[in-house]
Amino acid sequence: MELPTKVQIIEVGPRDGFQIEPAFIPTEQKIRIINKLSETGLRRIEATSFVHPKAIPQLADAAEVMAGITRKEGVSYMALVPNVKGVDRALQAAVEEINLVVSASESHNKNNMNMSIAESLKAFREAAKIALGNGMRITGSIGTAFGCPFEGRVPPRKVEEIAQELLAMGVHEVCLADTTGMANPSQVIGLVSRLRHQFKDVEFRLHFHNTRGAGMANVLAALFEGITIFDGSIGGLGGCPYAPGATGNIPTEDMVHMLESMGIDTGIDLPKLVDCAKMVQELLGRELPGQVMKAGTVPWLTKSRQTDE
Ligand code: COA
Ligand code: ZN
Repeated sequence: MELPTKVQIIEVGPRDGFQIEPAFIPTEQKIRIINKLSETGLRRIEATSFVHPKAIPQLADAAEVMAGITRKEGVSYMALVPNVKGVDRALQAAVEEINLVVSASESHNKNNMNMSIAESLKAFREAAKIALGNGMRITGSIGTAFGCPFEGRVPPRKVEEIAQELLAMGVHEVCLADTTGMANPSQVIGLVSRLRHQFKDVEFRLHFHNTRGAGMANVLAALFEGITIFDGSIGGLGGCPYAPGATGNIPTEDMVHMLESMGIDTGIDLPKLVDCAKMVQELLGRELPGQVMKAGTVPWLTKSRQTDE
């Protein structure tokens, strides 16, 4: 089995992480964190959501956040959108890349988006047309792809059908999301190999939550299946407010630490990323799950990239 030599990491903490924080994070703090993340070598950052402010009050300041950040050249700032209204708002905020999210289980989609899967997909068809017409890049994300907190097992066939629909509307990439951390490595290998076989040449991206401690093992399983795009959340922030028991994503800095230790290039300056995790922990005033920021990096990974060159 061969491992890839390069992997792309997407930071989703400012969206997936901030959306579930109990206290509202002031807009200027969100902006500070995103700006600091922009200096680490990350190329894609999910900065916010253009959803109903009542559904996710934490991200009601999406437009202000997008207007306030310093956009670094070479970094794409993405936003999650659920429908046409979300795309319109994202366009007004000059977002270049959107994440259309639907769940593979009816009950989670209903709970989260107040729509059936078919209704979400219908809304996406229109949303995707507008987005593509305006030169936006689109990820189609499939939530609860590895299990649903309400329904339990999710048939891989359902994930395959949704992927097919998303690709038919022209999404550039399909993200498989383990919304409440139910996946195990065998299941990851099974689903990813099935989808990669069915949809050759499609970019798949994996989004794991570490709810049951299997996050990093799932990353490794996906790597062996040839996946090279992964989401992480700084410090391990995160969770879906419409999924009981949801907790954080894989801490981005822990994932980068593991990958760089294995000789896999992420393009990220690990010490700078660890500094970001520490800053977020300090701003939130509580201990976050990230482990490398507590233990420190292994000695051979302590140098910043700039000093290496
Ligand atoms: N942004 C802001 N407002 C929106 C919106 C959006 N993307 N989409 C709809 N609305 C507004 C409508 O304009 C309408 O406003 P009005 O009452 O003033 O006319 C109102 O919301 C109701 O519209 P409707 O289409 O019936 O929406 P809904 O109440 O059924 O909610 C969603 C559907 C998708 C907008 C809502 O469930 C949502 O935002 N979910 C996101 C959940 C989320 O982000 N979960 C975590 C990420 S996985
Ligand atoms: Zn998530």
